Amino acid sequence: MSTNLKVIILAAGQGTRMKSKVPKVLHKVLDKTMADCVIDTCLEAGAEDICVIVGHQSMMVKKMIGDRVKYAFQKEQLGTGHAVMQAGDFIGEDGNVLILCGDTPLIRPETIKQIISFHTENDNSATGVSFIAENPTGYGRIIREQGKFVKIVEQKDATPKEQAVNEVNSGVYIFKAASLKSALEGLKNNNASGEYYLTDTLEVIKSKGEKTEVMKAEDETEFLGVNSKLDLYKATKVLMNRINEKHMLEGVSIINPENTYIGQDVKIAPDTIILPGTSLKGKTKIGTDCIIGPNTEITSSEIKDGVSIKMSVLDNAYVDNYTTVGPFAYLRPGAHVGEHVRIGDFVEIKNSNIDDGTKVSHLTYVGDSDVGKGVNFGCGTVTANYDGVSKYRTTIKDNAFIGCNTNLIAPVTVGEYAVTAAGSTINKDVPDHALSIARKRQINIDEWAKKK
Ligand code: UD1
Ligand code: CA
Repeated sequence: MSTNLKVIILAAGQGTRMKSKVPKVLHKVLDKTMADCVIDTCLEAGAEDICVIVGHQSMMVKKMIGDRVKYAFQKEQLGTGHAVMQAGDFIGEDGNVLILCGDTPLIRPETIKQIISFHTENDNSATGVSFIAENPTGYGRIIREQGKFVKIVEQKDATPKEQAVNEVNSGVYIFKAASLKSALEGLKNNNASGEYYLTDTLEVIKSKGEKTEVMKAEDETEFLGVNSKLDLYKATKVLMNRINEKHMLEGVSIINPENTYIGQDVKIAPDTIILPGTSLKGKTKIGTDCIIGPNTEITSSEIKDGVSIKMSVLDNAYVDNYTTVGPFAYLRPGAHVGEHVRIGDFVEIKNSNIDDGTKVSHLTYVGDSDVGKGVNFGCGTVTANYDGVSKYRTTIKDNAFIGCNTNLIAPVTVGEYAVTAAGSTINKDVPDHALSIARKRQINIDEWAKKK
């Protein structure tokens, strides 16, 4: 993409029809906000200079999007044309400006590139993008005479004859910066909404004798504008199909794509099987020959090959080859699990390294710990890593054996091949090869029950 291209994304509106306290562009399609969907797609298409127009709850929107874009502020939401006016300095006088709506999250990078080529190859001053809508209600209509573009009419302002037109405005445009700037200067708000419509700038530019065209895009689903929660659901469905189909064609088995939620940035190698009810989010990366699910949620985690994860939750975790996780395990941020490890039911691992061949089979919490190879955890082990003020680490060396119901009060080290007796509360280091018993001895009172 030429460096002389600037991108504006409109995201100042409240999105009244969403009936939500959250600004519209922060609603998510799968695991990503609509704003991030549009920004990421622009970046993927090669955009370098992006300005997002914010207004309604601008602090929250800026915080969520972060500093990878520039911002312009629209104090009052007086329409899409008014929104673009707020970015006057950003638009400048040179090159081209691509404009997209923050509520149209499904556009593809290839389509953006195609729109830019169409505009520059035809040397247009303004290019709109339309599609044929199965149901045009709510969209601006593209009015043509003898096939030539005349104007865009909004739903509210359209005559019945205009409303019958099914070629609609996608909300994506590209302008020569100078042409856009001068068209915005004369924009009026004498329409049914009393708003300054960006759509009117095309008619204005055309009336000055400058080359204005509307390109017909092929795939209607890319331009689904999200105005309500129902639209959000429709957009999610489209994206799910797109993503799941891509993975299946690349060799991943998805048993029920209807209820498998895979984010746009997730990578999965062939021959992995995804069982129903699974959500894979963020920058998750999964190797080959894994079985994931059912009912598993994995966020920004790396899973190597041959791993099985059943009915579990993983967040920013790492799981190496041939390890099994679950059912009902919880790997929290910083859980780094080696090869051939077993993490069983009701086990929580946080900020800990678990080395190869270790077994943590049931009812155990391992936090802030470094666990060696071939360690066996008995049922009900707890690392007491927090004294209410600070966190401390527990070290368990290779081949140690932790008896059932051991409490390890950190900071503490259990040596190689050391054994802790069941029910022990360990608060002193255990030397290599030692047995540590830290519990009251049992006493038996003979005949006691008979006296009752
Ligand atoms: C708009 C178009 C319509 C098109 C449709 C495509 C206009 C006048 N209409 O209608 O022709 O078919 O998109 O989806 O442009 N926004 C601001 N500031 C404002 C108003 C809106 O930043 O003052 C932002 C919104 O946050 C949103 C985008 O602009 O991201 C579009 O606004 P919206 O109100 O949804 O326009 P539509 O009615 O969908
Ligand atoms: Ca819209």
